[in-house]
Amino acid sequence: MSTSRNPQRLVVLVSGSGTNLQALIDACADPAYGAVVVAVGADRDDILALERAEAAGIPTFVKKVGQFTSRDNWDHAVADTVAAFEPDLVVLAGFMKLVGEDFLGRFAGRTVNTHPALSPSFPGMHGPADALTYGVKVTGATLFVVDGGVDTGPIVAQTVVPVEDDDDIDSLHERIKVAERAMLVENVGRMAREGFTITDRKVRFGA
Ligand code: GAR
Repeated sequence: MSTSRNPQRLVVLVSGSGTNLQALIDACADPAYGAVVVAVGADRDDILALERAEAAGIPTFVKKVGQFTSRDNWDHAVADTVAAFEPDLVVLAGFMKLVGEDFLGRFAGRTVNTHPALSPSFPGMHGPADALTYGVKVTGATLFVVDGGVDTGPIVAQTVVPVEDDDDIDSLHERIKVAERAMLVENVGRMAREGFTITDRKVRFGA
């Protein structure tokens, strides 16, 4: 990814409470971070993440799957709307939808997602619950470049947290999210400032 534009423009897609979004917004307040959130998009309304964006004065948009006659049409509309904000990097931060072919046709290689498990273990919507059920002793979060699979793309960074004996899904997910936010902020910043390459699934910082 080229870093010629400074700051790099981020479009962030969300579905929930938006604590990862908030961490990015806070980091972007420092010009030295090298990135700015230019828009926040969601697949649903009435979520805290959209309130966080609005409180920060960031433009928002909502595209619900149900508003469209097909999933492909939804994907096309999301891609069109994201494109209008001319992002350098698209960040899926708790976005609970898979983007489709049209979106990836335009943003593959510059869309990242954060997943609350250590890939390739426990892909999908229930990473913390699946890790707990399996009985692993450590889990964490993975930042990856989105491809056509479910949480399968080239890995940018991972962070590890312990699983405690008395954890339930919420306590484990909260511990993951603390580490996840730090990982997201650190690595999106590096992507913006240093650029990155992907060769044989290996993501490396630098031009
Ligand atoms: C994060 O833990 C993120 O990894 C997860 O949702 C949470 C969103 O938290 N995403 C997924 O599970 C995607 N499959 P947030 O809304 O507070 O940022």
